[in-house]
Amino acid sequence: MAHHRSSVFSIKIQFIKLFLSLATIKGVFGNCYTSVFSFGDSLTDTGNIYFTDPTQQCLFPPYGESYFPHPTGRCCNGRLVLDFTAQTLGLPLIKPYLGFEHGSNVTSIQGVNFAVVGATALDAAFFFERGIDNVSTNDSLSVQLDWFKKILPSLCNTSSQCNEIFGSSLFLMGEIGGNDYNYPFFMYRSIEEIQTFVPLVINAIASAINELIELGAVTLMVPGNLPIGCSAAYLTYYETADTDQYDPETGCLNWLNKFSEYHNDQLQKELSRIQALHPHTKIIYADFYNSSMRFYRNPSQYGFTGGALTACCGGGGPYNFNTSAKCSNPSVSACDDPSKYVSWDGIHLTEAAYRWITNGLLEGPYTIPQISISCVSQDA
Ligand SMILES: *[C@@H]1O[C@H](CO)[C@@H](O)[C@H](O)[C@H]1NC(C)=O
Ligand SMILES: *[C@@H]1O[C@H](CO)[C@@H](O)[C@H](O)[C@H]1NC(C)=O
Ligand SMILES: *[C@@H]1O[C@H](CO)[C@@H](O)[C@H](O)[C@H]1NC(C)=O
Ligand SMILES: *[C@@H]1O[C@H](CO)[C@@H](O)[C@H](O)[C@H]1NC(C)=O
Ligand SMILES: *[C@@H]1O[C@H](CO)[C@@H](O)[C@H](O)[C@H]1NC(C)=O
Ligand SMILES: *[C@@H]1O[C@H](CO)[C@@H](O)[C@H](O)[C@H]1NC(C)=O
Repeated sequence: MAHHRSSVFSIKIQFIKLFLSLATIKGVFGNCYTSVFSFGDSLTDTGNIYFTDPTQQCLFPPYGESYFPHPTGRCCNGRLVLDFTAQTLGLPLIKPYLGFEHGSNVTSIQGVNFAVVGATALDAAFFFERGIDNVSTNDSLSVQLDWFKKILPSLCNTSSQCNEIFGSSLFLMGEIGGNDYNYPFFMYRSIEEIQTFVPLVINAIASAINELIELGAVTLMVPGNLPIGCSAAYLTYYETADTDQYDPETGCLNWLNKFSEYHNDQLQKELSRIQALHPHTKIIYADFYNSSMRFYRNPSQYGFTGGALTACCGGGGPYNFNTSAKCSNPSVSACDDPSKYVSWDGIHLTEAAYRWITNGLLEGPYTIPQISISCVSQDA
């Protein structure tokens, strides 16, 4: 009986498969992504950090507690924008590249994640040369791109093979660049100096995008920076009695948010230039800034009754962020319900916040142009 049922079932599956492949040929199912390749920093790392720095704070409890429920290397209590994106596309969670290298099989996968906690868009040497000496990893964007090139032969050998695979892949380029500013800001370097980094950071992101396009990438989603003036870490480092510096609506530091807007404006201009040069590609700006501004403006409307600016997991202070008592330090405990907070550890956001940001991207209106995640194309 069971056998009979399963063979009927398997015939049905064969019909569905046949229908799907015919549909694909006809272009009916034009927007299905079959894999995701991602680059970035701690907003996107799903475990590479385990292989490069096993002492990193994100590898210890209570990180990961709300979903996995143990540490995975994600700098969050649960899933990241990359995880929600993969799940929305019907794909498994995207595994870290360094995990593949240490044993398993790259060929049978539906994506690879190259992001590393602490990574910068510019090479680490750039910062060391300027005395910004606490950059915690050398695995910058160009290193991550080299890793991608290293696995290419296991994915495809001819350009037509590569075009086929990458043509139906989503490339998530970031978020990257945030750390290029975090390191100098947390050392109190002047904003005038840090501002001079912006065009260089944008260039680094642009050249990575251009290389990927040359290798066959067609759809790239490129996040901008979060509003750093709303981050518990920045609010702590740059706390001031001068109330004029704060946005009365959100409590965020205006001048720091202006800095994020400056980076985001430059990034969007560069993306438009790349798009114009490569009409066959889809370069999509992911507006993390505005997608998150929604809950900084109206936290309780999004369930953030613990407030938008105070960290869930931290060692005290007005924003519950303390560099000498960070989340995962044995003396520090997390709040009871992280879903009521935007900020997880003062630098990174909670799973709940990342879920809202992802919804804003994939369901609109915070991708420009709007990403299509439906498998049925508009002209069908
Ligand atoms: C890797 O995947 C390929 C294709 O699916 C398979 O033939 C091969 O046996 C796998 N190798 C290992 C070591 O799992
Ligand atoms: C990064 O590279 C520099 C120069 O090669 C080296 O001194 C440093 O130890 C490296 N840092 C890390 C975290 O690997
Ligand atoms: C590409 O060629 C190499 C070397 O011959 C081989 O090991 C690899 O499996 C090939 N990759 C694919 C996707 O066919
Ligand atoms: C960088 O150094 C400054 C002080 O020198 C420190 O406050 C900050 O936490 C450091 N940042 C990182 C990411 O290590
Ligand atoms: C998003 O934020 C930028 C600042 O980065 C602002 O100029 C723009 O108008 C906003 N767009 C939307 C759709 O809210
Ligand atoms: C920050 O942590 C240190 C070390 O645990 C502690 O001595 C200090 O009081 C904390 N600061 C605040 C503002 O809570």
